[in-house]
Amino acid sequence: MMRLDRLLAKLGLGTRSEVKALIRSARITVNGLVCTDPGQHIREDDTLRFNGQPLDIRTQHHLMMNKPKGLLTAARDSRQETVMSLLSPIYISCDCMPVGRLDKDTEGLLLFTTDGKAAHHLLSPKSMVKKIYEAKVSGKLDSDTVKRFEEGISLSDFQTLPAKLSIQESREDASLALVTLYEGKHHQVKRMFGACGHEVLHLRRMQFGSLKLDALLSPGQYRELSDIEWSSLLKESSIEA
Ligand code: URA
Repeated sequence: MMRLDRLLAKLGLGTRSEVKALIRSARITVNGLVCTDPGQHIREDDTLRFNGQPLDIRTQHHLMMNKPKGLLTAARDSRQETVMSLLSPIYISCDCMPVGRLDKDTEGLLLFTTDGKAAHHLLSPKSMVKKIYEAKVSGKLDSDTVKRFEEGISLSDFQTLPAKLSIQESREDASLALVTLYEGKHHQVKRMFGACGHEVLHLRRMQFGSLKLDALLSPGQYRELSDIEWSSLLKESSIEA
């Protein structure tokens, strides 16, 4: 339950005083009846219309974006363009935030949610949510690197958990591989390959938990997750929907 004026402001229809004026101008209906009371309590199953057009009154949203290269993963930044610039204003006014980070030059699956608590659980190392990356790296990958990933690599500030490296193509100049991690430290994939003498030339996240990057999303596009997709993700990190 939420007051009508608060809900409309959250949906991005204006500031609290603007939406109050809008409500008083009798342009909002609740379940078919004109409502001019900004304080009316609205329930999730109420039907709202604005100028006769149905309003989507959900304030909880969970999105999957195919993050393009070149944008910062951050809620805001004073100098650089962020992934938030791609979202429609309705998601911004509901505080839909990125779940974790992808580097500026990394592409692929980036989640957004309005549920800060769930985001925290999904990112917690205890949750052990699987992430799969496709990496193009310099040089020839071989079974020694697969073994090092499997055993865990000692970086300057931490020891990585066992990770799976699956070589897709291996050539003298460059190789392609899938990397499966159960943690997500800053620049982790780049640092793991770096420790084995390979530079990451291109990195794309393909999977986050059970969620696979939707092949229909071009870089920069996003879509809402279905209820089933979101609740399965939460189950994997032992959170109830
Ligand atoms: N590992 C990296 O090095 N960069 C990313 O963006 C994600 C994982």
